[in-house]
Amino acid sequence: MSNKQAARAPQPVASERVPLKARKVSFSWEDTPLHWVPGDPFTTHTINVLHLLLPAGERWFVHVYKQVLPYIRDDELREDVLGFIGQEAMHSQAHDEVLPRLRELGLDPTPYTAQVDWMFEKLLGDRTLPPGRARRWWLMERVALIAAIEHYTAFLGDWVLNAEELDRRGADPTMLDLLRWHGAEEVEHRSVAFDLFLHVDGGYRRRARTWATAFATLVFLWQRGIRFFLENDPTLLDAKGSLKDFHRRGRDGLLPSTGAMLRSIPTYLSRTYHPSQEGSTEQAVAYLAASPAALAAEKRTA
Ligand SMILES: [Fe+2]
Ligand SMILES: [Fe+2]
Repeated sequence: MSNKQAARAPQPVASERVPLKARKVSFSWEDTPLHWVPGDPFTTHTINVLHLLLPAGERWFVHVYKQVLPYIRDDELREDVLGFIGQEAMHSQAHDEVLPRLRELGLDPTPYTAQVDWMFEKLLGDRTLPPGRARRWWLMERVALIAAIEHYTAFLGDWVLNAEELDRRGADPTMLDLLRWHGAEEVEHRSVAFDLFLHVDGGYRRRARTWATAFATLVFLWQRGIRFFLENDPTLLDAKGSLKDFHRRGRDGLLPSTGAMLRSIPTYLSRTYHPSQEGSTEQAVAYLAASPAALAAEKRTA
């Protein structure tokens, strides 16, 4: 690689790498109220969209990555990918377990989750492609899509670890622990999907194209998810969310700010970008060492 090419290549921060392990957490939801950010259905439901998207989405990550394992020719990366698979499987399950509580509270998410399941299983699933180039192309496309999505899970993980305003507003401690345990593991493993993409493909055009697809799809699904929750919340009459509500919550520190979200775009598209440049492994590890759910999981397996 010439000096010029090296200056345009992703620049990892080696000290941010940590060995990955899945923590077998479990949460009790019986005391969590419908509006777990008190008096703020909009913030509650905006974050609740995670429970609609992640069970199917993270199951899909695991499904795709199991197919990529034979393409990995680096032992350290294989270990990271196996750790990633273990963590994502647990995340998917933990968010799935919130859904019965929403049903109990009168908010049945099935009409929405059925569509999300269809998207990940059928639209983004294994197509009946012949072995060879077409099948490999579709696998690489999905590996790149996961790297782009993981840019946002790491962004959200870093955000929620620092979202002190949620504590000040009295947000439900169990939900906060779920979000921060998950967020901290997203920060821990934030480089894995990108490193895997670099290892098996790494093409810049594919990175940019799949980023655009992932970003547009996430924005579309998120705003539909918020609308779904607001329309089906049994305690609300004619509730509607707007972009203004979102900006205001971002400004108040209750949701990620619009500015931070916009800045994340050129960050991912920079040729020197590497996920280890953003977020703090030290902060993530410190949260996991104190998380009630992670500590209980450790005690159970000790
Ligand atoms: Fe996750
Ligand atoms: Fe992740």
